[in-house]
Amino acid sequence: MSETATLRFASGEEIGLPVFTGGEGEKALDIEKLRAATGMVTLDEAYLNTASCRSAITYLDGEKGILRYRGYPIEELAEKSRFVEVAYLLMYGDLPIASQLDDFSAILNGSSLIHEDMRHFFLAFPNNAHPMSLLTTMVASLSAFYPVPENPTDEEEAQIIANLMSQVRTISAFSYKKFVGEPVVYPSHKLRFVENFLNMMFSSPVSNYQLDPDIVKAIEAFLIIHADHEQNCSTSAVRIAGSSLANVYAVISAGISALWGRRHGGANQAVVTMLRNIQQSGDDGRRFLEAAKSKDSRLMGFGHRIYKTHDPRALIMKKLCHRILGKPGMSDPMFDIAMRLEEAALSDDYFLSRNLYPNVDFYSGLILKAAGIPFDMFTVLFAIGRTPGWLAHWREMRHDANNRIARPRQIYTGPAERFYVPVSQREKHSVGVMRRSHTKALPVAPRDLISSSMDCG
Ligand code: SDX
Repeated sequence: MSETATLRFASGEEIGLPVFTGGEGEKALDIEKLRAATGMVTLDEAYLNTASCRSAITYLDGEKGILRYRGYPIEELAEKSRFVEVAYLLMYGDLPIASQLDDFSAILNGSSLIHEDMRHFFLAFPNNAHPMSLLTTMVASLSAFYPVPENPTDEEEAQIIANLMSQVRTISAFSYKKFVGEPVVYPSHKLRFVENFLNMMFSSPVSNYQLDPDIVKAIEAFLIIHADHEQNCSTSAVRIAGSSLANVYAVISAGISALWGRRHGGANQAVVTMLRNIQQSGDDGRRFLEAAKSKDSRLMGFGHRIYKTHDPRALIMKKLCHRILGKPGMSDPMFDIAMRLEEAALSDDYFLSRNLYPNVDFYSGLILKAAGIPFDMFTVLFAIGRTPGWLAHWREMRHDANNRIARPRQIYTGPAERFYVPVSQREKHSVGVMRRSHTKALPVAPRDLISSSMDCG
């Protein structure tokens, strides 16, 4: 039985709005007819209360700390599955049978090289450019080398998906090699997805990287828990860019750009910086908590738009930290600092009253650090993980017969109508371009500086 909500105005006018109920009982007011019927739009800055689409890919319950990919709990997938298998699940809706998984792995392997001419692009970047600046640029540039048909067939779509998943990983590893001044290591068909990435990152012409199964498993879990998260900022950027039918490489590049921000994918780097500052200050972290409470800064890796309890991914990463950092010779004092900080915050009313708990980024950087992943590459790893999620949403949207270009409205708060005045009759404005003597170009990053932040955090 369909449900309706009634909106009643001061004038006494009423309008009935249909209520849509989702698969897990979530309810939404369907306002598609609102403006036509009342001339009104809804105002919901930063979309705190707005569902932008219907999706069957990922389910979150922020109050209960639930995250499921196509119905499977994240805890099970992180423990038992592999990243490539989870990518298939997100993309096509079910866990693959053996032959489907083999075919998917084969097409990923076949797509792991980038066009050799793209190697020249790396040379043009200063050595200390952030790898996210390379990733956004190089992914958009893939469109010049791998043209995408207007309406890809299922096979062409599968090839595009494989290209992007595989080449984002290859570009990421090549970016790292550029900064450390080593020759790139090409992907190998003999290695699985994650092993290939680690080998491309850490092997060199003079030494072969020794794969540690625990580290491979940790990176698999890291990528799995980052693979999708419904309509987060970067996935929304992908859906908006994709809704204009832009080239899919440009669409994924839009997602990478949105992820870069420290409120979003850049937070894992910011957490390790915060823990390192606490470690170097000799402080027990209380000063950082007080700074966060006085709004001078934020406790990075804490708080979430959806989770008002523990982010289930934070619990998975914390458990993995115990496993990896508990191995002989792997201990990290930053883990102890992080656990003490979490304990102090979760006994402080400022954080509890605002439902601020550790999110995916609070412990995940420590896993990357233990794997020897350099500090500036943390958000890049998040992007490698999130690429199948972005592609799954791009695919879901393009197969939705009702999909249209996304075009939100606004409420105008600018000046009323006014008319042109010749420049000779204008008064000076209070705000405007600074006087010519004060403006100077932004400094260009020095080309010869090898990024010091490319250490292991
Ligand atoms: C990711 O959306 C996703 O799903 C994202 C993600 C994904 O997988 O895609 O989960 C990945 O981006 C995780 C979040 C990583 N970011 C950080 O860890 C940065 C630190 N966290 C925050 O900046 C913040 O919590 C956000 C951005 C994550 C959420 O911001 P909201 O929902 O807009 O919350 P808000 O800014 O409105 O804050 C509400 C209150 C405010 O205090 P009051 O005005 O009520 O007094 O909580 C305070 C904020 O000042 N607050 C914090 C805080 N986060 C919020 N205070 C101190 N430290 C923090 N981290």
